[in-house]
Amino acid sequence: MKITTFISSLLGLGVLVSAAPYTPSGGLGTNSTPPVYQPLSDFDFQSINLALNQEWIELDLFHYGLARFSVAEFEAAGLNAEDRFLIEFMADQEVGHAQLLTNILGPERAAKQCTYRYPFQTVREFVDFCQKLTRFGESGVYGFLEHLDSRASAQLLLQSITTEARQQMIFRQFEGLFPMPVWFEAGITQSMAWTLLAPYIVSCPASNPKIEWQNFPALNITNNPNATAYFNLSVIGNETTPAITHNRSEPLSYPGREVFFTWETPGKQVGYNNSFTTNTTAGDPKFVAWISQLNTTFTELMDINNQSGKTYQPGGTVFGGNSSPIVNGTMFVAITDANLTITPANISMLNSHIVAGPALYQSG
Ligand SMILES: *[C@@H]1O[C@H](CO)[C@@H](O)[C@H](O)[C@H]1NC(C)=O
Ligand SMILES: *[C@@H]1O[C@H](CO)[C@@H](O)[C@H](O)[C@H]1NC(C)=O
Ligand SMILES: *[C@@H]1O[C@H](CO)[C@@H](O)[C@H](O)[C@H]1NC(C)=O
Ligand SMILES: *[C@@H]1O[C@H](CO)[C@@H](O)[C@H](O)[C@H]1NC(C)=O
Ligand SMILES: *[C@@H]1O[C@H](CO)[C@@H](O)[C@H](O)[C@H]1NC(C)=O
Ligand SMILES: *[C@@H]1O[C@H](CO)[C@@H](O)[C@H](O)[C@H]1NC(C)=O
Ligand SMILES: *[C@@H]1O[C@H](CO)[C@@H](O)[C@H](O)[C@H]1NC(C)=O
Ligand SMILES: *[C@@H]1O[C@H](CO)[C@@H](O)[C@H](O)[C@H]1NC(C)=O
Ligand SMILES: *[C@@H]1O[C@H](CO)[C@@H](O)[C@H](O)[C@H]1NC(C)=O
Ligand SMILES: *[C@@H]1O[C@H](CO)[C@@H](O)[C@H](O)[C@H]1NC(C)=O
Ligand SMILES: *[C@@H]1O[C@H](CO)[C@@H](O)[C@H](O)[C@H]1NC(C)=O
Ligand SMILES: *[C@@H]1O[C@H](CO)[C@@H](O)[C@H](O)[C@H]1NC(C)=O
Repeated sequence: MKITTFISSLLGLGVLVSAAPYTPSGGLGTNSTPPVYQPLSDFDFQSINLALNQEWIELDLFHYGLARFSVAEFEAAGLNAEDRFLIEFMADQEVGHAQLLTNILGPERAAKQCTYRYPFQTVREFVDFCQKLTRFGESGVYGFLEHLDSRASAQLLLQSITTEARQQMIFRQFEGLFPMPVWFEAGITQSMAWTLLAPYIVSCPASNPKIEWQNFPALNITNNPNATAYFNLSVIGNETTPAITHNRSEPLSYPGREVFFTWETPGKQVGYNNSFTTNTTAGDPKFVAWISQLNTTFTELMDINNQSGKTYQPGGTVFGGNSSPIVNGTMFVAITDANLTITPANISMLNSHIVAGPALYQSG
C-alpha cells in the first residue's frame, strides 16, 4: 500500500488508489482490458444492425444522387465539381462505416445492402433529403449509444456517427441553411429511427436479420416548412444558395406557428418486402411531442378529427433565459397520448405512448 493511501485510510478518507501516475481513480477498461467489439445482447445486435441498414442506404443514396442528376443540374443548384467530389467522398465514408458495423455484427449475420426508393425530383430536393436522412441516422444512434451492453462497440460506432454528423451539416450548407442552429443534437429511439427509415427500403435479401423494432403509423406535417425553395438571392437573411453559412434571419418557422398534421391508422404494411406492420400501443391522440436538442416538449393537439389535428410550435430554451431556443434545425415531432417527463436517458419510455410518427419538422 502506498504511503498516501495508507494515510488516507487512517484518516478515514477512503481508499484512493491511483492505477498509474497521472491517472485519477475510476473509469472503466482503462487498464487495457481487451475490448469486446461484438454485440453482447439482442439489444446490441438489433441496435447496431439498424445502424448498418442506415449506413447502407446512405451509401446508395449519395451514389444515386450523383448519377441521377447532370453536371448542369448540379451547377444550377450552385454545386460545383469540388462539391460533387465531397458527396462522392461521403459515399466512400459509408463504405467504411458499413464495413465496421459488419465486422462488429459478424459478416454471416450482418444485414446486406438492399434496394431503395427516394422521394426527390431535383438537386435541391436530393440535398434536402440527404440532410434529413442523415439527421435521423445520427439521432437514431445517439438515442441508444449509452444503453449498449458493448461499450467498445459503442465507441467505434460513435466514431462513425461523428463523421455522419459532419455530413449532415454539410448538406445543410449545400442547401443554404444555417449550418448548426442548435447547441445539442437530439437522440431518438430505435423504433423512431426505424419508422423514419422503413418507407425508403424496397427490398432486402432474405438472409437479412429481421428488424425487431417497432414501426409506428406514419405522421405527415402537411405544412412543413420548405427549405428547398429559393428565396430572394440578394437579400441577407433570405439567401438560400450553398454557403458555409447564411444568417437565415427570415426563419423557416417560429414559436406560435400553427402546425397541421395527418396520420395513418396502424396495421399498414411497410418496410422492405412490405414485411413489417405498423403498430401503436398508445391510447387516444392528445399531445404533440417535440424532440429537439436535450428536450422533449409537449403541446396540446387540437382540432382532432379522426387522423388529423393541429398544434402550435412551442417556445422555450434549453437552459431557460437566453440559452438556445429548443426548436430549431431538422427535428422530430410525434403524436402521443400523454405528456411525460422525458430526458435523453429515458426517451424509450415514449415509445409506448406514440400514436403516430415521428416526422421530421424542418423548423430551421
Ligand atoms: C424480398 O423480395 C425480393 C424480390 O422478390 C426477394 O429476392 C427477397 O428474398 C425478399 N426478401 C425478404 C426479406 O423476404
Ligand atoms: C403530406 O401532406 C402534404 C400536404 O397536404 C401532401 O402534399 C403530401 O403528399 C403528404 N405526404 C404524404 C406522404 O402523405
Ligand atoms: C418547395 O418549394 C419548391 C420551390 O418553390 C417547390 O418546387 C417544391 O414543390 C416545394 N416542396 C414542397 C414539399 O412543397
Ligand atoms: C424572403 O423570401 C420570402 C419568400 O419569397 C418573402 O416572403 C420574404 O418577404 C422575403 N424576405 C425579405 C426580407 O426579403
Ligand atoms: C430581391 O431583393 C432586392 C433587394 O431588396 C430587390 O431589389 C429585388 O427586387 C428583389 N427581387 C425579387 C425577385 O423579389
Ligand atoms: C447575422 O445575424 C446576427 C444575429 O442576428 C446579426 O448580429 C448580424 O448583423 C447578421 N449579419 C448580417 C450580415 O446580416
Ligand atoms: C434558428 O436559428 C437561426 C440561426 O441562429 C435563427 O436565425 C432562426 O431564427 C432560428 N429559428 C427558430 C425557429 O428559432
Ligand atoms: C401491436 O402490438 C401488440 C403488442 O405486441 C400486439 O398485441 C398487437 O396485436 C399489435 N397490433 C397490430 C395491429 O399488429
Ligand atoms: C406537460 O407537463 C408539464 C409538466 O407537468 C407541464 O409544465 C406542461 O404544461 C404540460 N404540457 C401540456 C401541453 O399540457
Ligand atoms: C371520421 O370518421 C368517421 C367514421 O369513420 C366518419 O364517419 C367521418 O365522416 C369522419 N370524419 C371526417 C371529417 O372525415
Ligand atoms: C432541457 O433538457 C436539459 C437536459 O435534460 C434540462 O437540463 C433542461 O431543464 C431542459 N429544458 C427545459 C426547458 O425543459
Ligand atoms: C425520465 O427520467 C426523469 C429523470 O430521471 C424522470 O423524472 C421521469 O419520470 C422519467 N420518465 C419516465 C416516463 O419514466
